[in-house]
Amino acid sequence: MSALLDVGGLSTGYGVVQVLEDVSIRVAAGEIVSLIGPNGAGKSTVLRSVVGLLPPWRGDIRFDGRDLVGRPPHLLPRDGLMYVPQGRVVFPLMTVRENLEMGAFLFRRDRARVREAMEWVLGLFPRLRERLGQLAGTMSGGEQQMCAIARGLMARPRLLLLDEPSLGLAPRFVDLVFEKMDALRAAGVAVLLVEQNAVRALEIADRAYVLARGSTFCEGTGRALLEDAQVQALFLGGRKGEGWR
Ligand SMILES: Nc1ncnc2c1ncn2[C@@H]1O[C@H](COP(=O)(O)OP(=O)(O)O)[C@@H](O)[C@H]1O
Ligand SMILES: [Mg+2]
Repeated sequence: MSALLDVGGLSTGYGVVQVLEDVSIRVAAGEIVSLIGPNGAGKSTVLRSVVGLLPPWRGDIRFDGRDLVGRPPHLLPRDGLMYVPQGRVVFPLMTVRENLEMGAFLFRRDRARVREAMEWVLGLFPRLRERLGQLAGTMSGGEQQMCAIARGLMARPRLLLLDEPSLGLAPRFVDLVFEKMDALRAAGVAVLLVEQNAVRALEIADRAYVLARGSTFCEGTGRALLEDAQVQALFLGGRKGEGWR
């Protein structure tokens, strides 16, 4: 597989405390890859390290063949890599339109490009069109999460890193988050999806990795991991259809 994102032998931590040990993760172009594992396993740390918020101690991080280690994080959208952190982060006092425009900040002088991106994103998230003039901070949590994901797409990334997009959302928005993964796959956008909702994350994934205590426990197609007895017992609450939360 020729990887779009290729993380090899990544070890890192905070201060002197090691969190990740020899983590290897690959995402091919257009692929939906889920990263699941218990709380504290190091999933968010993987994403932070990929985007350069936390320098690796050891290992390689390559995106489209380019070495990302040491690359300034603010240049990543230009490379085609976008990160949507945990917690529905929007600019609350800006309108939805302004939030989306901030996602295309690097290209803001190219008005045609921003307009085109806006139309593409609103095609994926039609409900946001009705909210364009609304202050993002006045929307529901689910709508804010949609806005955060949509903003991440405004730079037309080839790979989107999503940290727990369904966490704490009302059930219909959880459904919507997972529906959007199919839409992104259809649009050719690769996704590295960190999720607590392990069963649904495996159902949607082309491939997946289980992270436990900072190391890769296993990897495989979403379906293979869903049907794996050990994965079911340890990470899916003992039986299929029930996550650990
Ligand atoms: N900023 C930080 N400083 C120190 N330790 C941290 C920090 N963020 C996370 N950790 C620790 O790193 C480990 C992995 O955390 P995290 O990557 O957030 O796990 P996950 O996303 O899988 O729940 C945990 O033990 C957590 O306490
Ligand atoms: Mg996390």
